[in-house]
Amino acid sequence: MTAHARRRVRRIATFAAAILLVALPVGAQVDLGTEEQRAAGKVVYDKYCGQCHGDTGDGNGYATPRVKPKPRDFTTGTYKFRTTPNGMLPTDDDLRRVIEIGAPYTSMPGWPNLTSAEIQNVIYYIKSFSPDFENPDRYGEPIEIPRPLESTEESIARGRVVYEEQGCAACHGEVGRGDGPSAPTLVNDKGDPIKVADLTQRWTYRGGATKEDIYRTFSTGLNGTPMPSYADSLEVEDRQHLVNYVYSLGDGDDPNYGTLITAVYSEEPIDLQNGETLDALFEAAPTTRFPLVGQITEPGRNFFPSVTSIEAQAVYNRDEIAFRVRWHDLRADTSGRNSPSLEVPMWDEDNGIGDDAGDDGGDSDDFFGDFGGEEAPAEDDFFGDSGDDFFGDGGDDFFGAADAGPPGAEFSDAVALQFPASLAPEETPELKPYFLYGDSQNPVDLWFVNLTYGVADTFRGRGSESIEPTEADIVEAVTSYDQGEWTVTYKRRRSSRAGVSFAEQQYTPLAFSVWDGFNRERGNKRALSSWFYVYTEPSVQPATAFPIVRAAIIVLVLELLVVFLVRRRARQKAAGEEAASTTLAATEAPAI
Ligand code: HEC
Ligand code: HEC
Repeated sequence: MTAHARRRVRRIATFAAAILLVALPVGAQVDLGTEEQRAAGKVVYDKYCGQCHGDTGDGNGYATPRVKPKPRDFTTGTYKFRTTPNGMLPTDDDLRRVIEIGAPYTSMPGWPNLTSAEIQNVIYYIKSFSPDFENPDRYGEPIEIPRPLESTEESIARGRVVYEEQGCAACHGEVGRGDGPSAPTLVNDKGDPIKVADLTQRWTYRGGATKEDIYRTFSTGLNGTPMPSYADSLEVEDRQHLVNYVYSLGDGDDPNYGTLITAVYSEEPIDLQNGETLDALFEAAPTTRFPLVGQITEPGRNFFPSVTSIEAQAVYNRDEIAFRVRWHDLRADTSGRNSPSLEVPMWDEDNGIGDDAGDDGGDSDDFFGDFGGEEAPAEDDFFGDSGDDFFGDGGDDFFGAADAGPPGAEFSDAVALQFPASLAPEETPELKPYFLYGDSQNPVDLWFVNLTYGVADTFRGRGSESIEPTEADIVEAVTSYDQGEWTVTYKRRRSSRAGVSFAEQQYTPLAFSVWDGFNRERGNKRALSSWFYVYTEPSVQPATAFPIVRAAIIVLVLELLVVFLVRRRARQKAAGEEAASTTLAATEAPAI
């Protein structure tokens, strides 16, 4: 072989090696760290992660029964939030991202205080729980996430077409409210029911809510869940349009919870039967979103309610007041029973142990034992902090007693407004009845609508044990379910014979309860709010600046006019007198 030929062979060999390196970058990704690094990672893990993810990484920490979705089981090698293709392992950067910022709207917190080295070490340790990380075949090339396209009308319209063509609506619903026809049937890969994301509530996205996050989520899918990967079926540009469409469905990045409904005054009659005029009336009223949490204080506990927020509005006229509430529900359950006082047997409480709830009563007792002990949240904590713990866990595998069989039509959806039966004395306006259906001294009134019938029933509550129908006041209601959203509009006379009257400029406490029949919610197993207020805005608005200025200008002009006229008159008169006196003088002068 000549020197030239040898060089040639060498060059070809180098070239081939380079090609090989490009084609098989995969093996290079197997990086399990050193023994020291894993040992250092174990220290971090045992301190911060084990209580949820379990000492052995199996997802069974002591806190696990209390959280939903369940902490990741690291022994399975199944990860949701990845830049890698469906079914593949996450990259270290993917893991780092979740560890640094957490998974929003779940109990998985972010760990901004860990150093970069600590995070890398804990990543090595987590990887050691699953042999999959030793297998080069389980690694895939991460996708590139392009910069978002400008969100023009055309882009959103194209995204809408892609959304329809790809069948996102089958699970997420026509307008993304989580009410697709498949939604009630979805299960994760452990066979537990899983709640589909409500795309209109971006703050509940667990993988993050930026456009880049959304792109990643549907490009690579969420392993272990029915959320598929669309990397193969969609061109990059169509995915970018789809991102803009999904983003446009959202109601903002933040739920913007409020504490007060402002009831606006109208001269118009409130006619529940005339949808158009009714909508027009409410169009003028501001909307407030209130957080709902599960009832966990009394029997009938519901750690993981389906509905986590409700929107409310109010309008009033001379005689009547009307409230409108709206919430999202994956299905209208309108054939079963429901009532605020329906008994919930112990086995059917949603106690947070998920699938074990039914057949393992022991667990459930332990659980409540613990919870009722020193760690039981004080009522104030429970409502006070906008706690990740409670608001956070809206989701995964959300019907506790899965053994109750496929969700049937046993219980209907329902909603209630709760008011104090009488207002607190003026000196102590902060006094309110016990938020759980009132108490013997301070009863509450419930305006309850069982959505099977769509009419309002009124109850007087003196605590959960004493809820009686009342007929002192007539409350009317109309209801509708449209594309995953319930709307219930109530009306009552402002003055009441036995309950609270709504005077102008009055702050009236009110609270909400929502029952999802699909989640077997009834009686005390419900989503509820703490007390908030409705404020009846003054019917006569104080005049704004413009009319005052206008009036002032008119007055000024009139005054100037008067002054001008008076002056002119005076001048004329003076001139006349002068002329007269001159004439007089002239006539008289010669006489002098
Ligand atoms: C309070 C409970 C809790 C603690 C403490 C906790 N996690 Fe998690 N973690 C969760 C839950 C719940 C999930 C599942 C979220 C989901 O499924 O959407 C999760 C998921 C994860 C995931 C998987 C993300 C994916 O793509 O699937 C990783 C990685 C993770 N946690 C790492 C950690 C590390 C590291 C620590 C300690 C520094 C830690 N977690 C502490 C509750 C916790
Ligand atoms: C077969 C049912 C199904 C289909 C089809 C589906 N999804 Fe999903 N999707 C889910 C489920 C279930 C979740 C919730 C997973 C979880 O919470 O872990 C989800 C979650 C999401 C999320 C939120 C993820 C997060 O961070 O919490 C987005 C965004 C999303 N899907 C977009 C889409 C888009 C866009 C399409 C169509 C291209 C689509 N999905 C098609 C079932 C589906």
